[in-house]
Amino acid sequence: MTLPPAYTLVALDRVDSTNDEAKRRAGAGAPEGTLVWARSQSAGRGRRGRRWDSPEGNLYLSLILRPDCPVGEAARLSFVAAVALAEALATLVPPLTEITNKWPNDVLVNGRKCAGILLESSLRNDRDLDWLVLGVGVNLVSHPEDPERPATDLAFEGAGEIAPETALHAFARHFLRWSDRWLEDGFAPVRAAWLRRAHGLGQPVTVRLGGESFTAIFRDLADDGALLAELADGRLRRVEAGEVFPVIA
Ligand code: BTN
Repeated sequence: MTLPPAYTLVALDRVDSTNDEAKRRAGAGAPEGTLVWARSQSAGRGRRGRRWDSPEGNLYLSLILRPDCPVGEAARLSFVAAVALAEALATLVPPLTEITNKWPNDVLVNGRKCAGILLESSLRNDRDLDWLVLGVGVNLVSHPEDPERPATDLAFEGAGEIAPETALHAFARHFLRWSDRWLEDGFAPVRAAWLRRAHGLGQPVTVRLGGESFTAIFRDLADDGALLAELADGRLRRVEAGEVFPVIA
């Protein structure tokens, strides 16, 4: 299996975090398309400062990107990646397996989190984007137990034991196609694809933002990636960062 020529693979046995390794390399001038992949991580990181369990057997990769666009627009790349990742996973699971996108960037398999995305950036002159590091973790053969955030892995969902290389190639191919689409046609097709697989659209959710939390209906994805939540009085509230939990009736 060869990667598309847009990527240069850096394959490591073990590293602290592929995002940290990619950030070090980006800072030292590594070009766009540098793809850091490790078989395990000793300090894998998730969103919101959480730990990302990283034993051997799962997929851990980080891609260096240097898009020529404003910082605000680059944040949409996490949705480009989420759509690509959902499509890639759909090629690896048995038919009828449900693959959904949970706001902002999780991919769920049969309703449980199977993959996550961590996008980090660095600015030049405090203003322009210098580089982005797009980190992707996929649970292939094991998953953590967390009652608050139920997780799963592809083997548990009946996909068999998928080699990390196979999942890496599937993601790389789909990400290339979706990032080209984003560059050519803008965010609209990405948003539409994300919404087609949106988990909990039209359903009540609890939104947690720092110390605050409220319940609303998940109505839509704005064209900058914010979640649009309908409050009890009918007003739409934009949520730009936070965490969303289903409301159990
Ligand atoms: C999340 O919280 O959902 C995001 C998880 C991102 C995990 C991946 S694993 C590869 C890369 N290296 C890291 O330390 N984190 C990301």
